Amino acid sequence: MTRQFRARTGWPCAAGFALVLCLPTHAGAQSLQASTQAATFAESCMSCHGLNGKGQGAIPQLAGKTQESLQGAMTEFASGARPGTIMRIIAKGYTPEQAAALGAYFAQVR
Ligand code: HEC
Repeated sequence: MTRQFRARTGWPCAAGFALVLCLPTHAGAQSLQASTQAATFAESCMSCHGLNGKGQGAIPQLAGKTQESLQGAMTEFASGARPGTIMRIIAKGYTPEQAAALGAYFAQVR
């Protein structure tokens, strides 16, 4: 009886232990992912802004502009301060941190 009880309580304990082990790993992965996250977001911009944000047709180039101007444009689109069509909707989907990371990403593309 006692042995069976121990065996049963052993499982939640093991699960709890695994969770504790996973948490620091997850935090480390998050900071590691931060740099690749911008690149992933940037790919969704390229369908309109061209490969590597080089611009296509009437859609402006993003590559090589300053991080400040790119982030500023995103902030202004999101707030409605800057006139736009599609960007007023798209910019609302990104946090200020993500807009900054996207600005930094396209600023370093040559
Ligand atoms: C569906 C097409 C589309 C997608 C996707 C898109 N854009 Fe745009 N973007 C535009 C258009 C069109 C404009 C011109 C302003 C407007 O009409 O909204 C623009 C303008 C901009 C501008 C202003 C550039 C300038 O010099 O005036 C920035 C910055 C920008 N986009 C960033 C982004 C970023 C960052 C992403 C990805 C998160 C993105 N865009 C995704 C279509 C798009």
